[in-house]
Amino acid sequence: MKKTQVVIIGAGPSGLLLSQLLARDGVDCLVLERQARPYVEARIRAGLLEWTTVELIRDAGVGERMLREGLVHDGFDLAFDGRSHRIDVKGLTGKNLLVYGQSELQKDLGDASADRVVWEAADVRIEDFTHAAHVSYLKDGVREVVEAEYIAGCDGYHGICRASIPRDRVVEHERVYPFGWLGVLADVPPLHHELVYANHERGFALCSQRSATRSRYYIQCALNDQVEKWDDDRFWDELARRLPADYVAKLVRGPSIEKSIAPLRSFVTEPMRFDRLFLVGDAAHIVPPTGAKGLNLAASDVRVLHEGLVDYFRRQNDTLLAAYSSRALSRVWKATRFSWWFTTLMHRFGDETFAQRLQVAELDWIAQSAAGSAAMAENYAGLPFAAG
Ligand code: APR
Ligand code: PHB
Repeated sequence: MKKTQVVIIGAGPSGLLLSQLLARDGVDCLVLERQARPYVEARIRAGLLEWTTVELIRDAGVGERMLREGLVHDGFDLAFDGRSHRIDVKGLTGKNLLVYGQSELQKDLGDASADRVVWEAADVRIEDFTHAAHVSYLKDGVREVVEAEYIAGCDGYHGICRASIPRDRVVEHERVYPFGWLGVLADVPPLHHELVYANHERGFALCSQRSATRSRYYIQCALNDQVEKWDDDRFWDELARRLPADYVAKLVRGPSIEKSIAPLRSFVTEPMRFDRLFLVGDAAHIVPPTGAKGLNLAASDVRVLHEGLVDYFRRQNDTLLAAYSSRALSRVWKATRFSWWFTTLMHRFGDETFAQRLQVAELDWIAQSAAGSAAMAENYAGLPFAAG
C-alpha cells in the first residue's frame, strides 16, 4: 500500500501541471498514467496558449524553454468574403498569446515530474472515492493500492474517472458538430506571422504554426472523410482555394509530416467534483478546437484545483476546495460558449445561403465595430477568473 496526499490519474498536460504545482507547494502526489511516456509525448495537439496559461506554467517552474522558444503573438486575422481583417488582441485586451506546441509542453512537464509518475500503470481502478480516496493499478502484473486524501481525475475524455461516477450523480451536456478538421503538419514556413482563420463557402480553414519553420494547417472536412483520400497535393490545393489571394501568394507547400482528421464536439460534465474525486481538463469537458480553448481550459481547472488543495493541505481551509466545481464551471461554460459561437461563425453547416450571408455580415460587423472586435479579442485572449 502506497500513501500520498493526492493521487492523480492521467499524465497529460492537466495531470502533470497539477502534480508540478502541488510538488512546488510541498503537497505530496503520485501520477498514474496508462501509456508509456514517448506515446504521450508524440500526440499532436493544439499549440496556442493564453497568457494566464503561460503564467501558470511559468509559476510551476517549467516555463523556461517555453518562454525561450515560444512565439509571442499580438493578434490574428479573420479572412472572409475574399478579404481579411486583423483582430489586435494585445491592443484591445493588453494580453499576448503564445504559440508553443502541446507536445513540447508535455516534454517539459515530463522532465520536471519524472519521479512522480508511474508510466504504463495498467487497469487503473477507483476503489473508493466517497468515504476514502483509494485507487489501484497493475504494474508488471502486480496490483498496487494507493491511499490518498483526494483523487484528481485528469485522464481525458475516454478515461475511467468520469465513467466511475454513478449516472444519477452527473449531468452531461453534448453537441456534436456535423464536420471534422483535417490537420496537416509540415516543415514549411508559416504563410503569415500570426494565425489566420478563414470563412469560405467551401468550408473553414485555419493557418497556424509551431515555429518559424513548421506550419500547422487545418481545413473543414466531412465527418466520414478519410485521411487516405487526401494526398498532400489535394490538401494544399483545397487550402489555397479557401484563402484570399494575397495569402495564397505566400503559401509554401511541402511534404506533410502528420495528417489526421478530428471530429468536433462540445461536452460539459456537471458537477466537476464528486466527494473526494475532482474531474479536471478533458475528463470533464471538450470544446471544438476553433479558438484553441482545450488546453487553456485544462490549465484553468488545474489553477483552481491547485489553489483549493494548497489551501486545504497547508492551511486546513477547505472553502476554496468546496468551491472548485462552481469556480471551474463558470469559466468552462464561457469558453464553451465562445468556441461554439466561433465554430458556428466560421464553418459551413450545409449549403444554405442564408446562413452564409449571416456569417459574412457578422464577420463584417466584428471587423467594423469596436464592440464587436473587443468581444472577440476578450474571449480569444481568455476571460478573467472568478474570485475565490
Ligand atoms: N488510466 C490512466 N491514465 C489514463 C487512463 C486510465 N484509465 N485513461 C486515459 N489516461 C491518460 C491518457 O493516456 C492521457 O495521457 O490520461 C491522459 C489524459 O490526457 P489528455 O487527454 O491530454 O487530457 P488533459 O491532460 O486534460 O489535457 C487537456 O487540452 O488541447 C487539449 O484535448 C487537448 O489533450 C488536451 C487537453
Ligand atoms: C493549432 O495550432 O493547432 C491551433 C491553433 C489555433 C486553434 C486551433 C488549433 O484555434
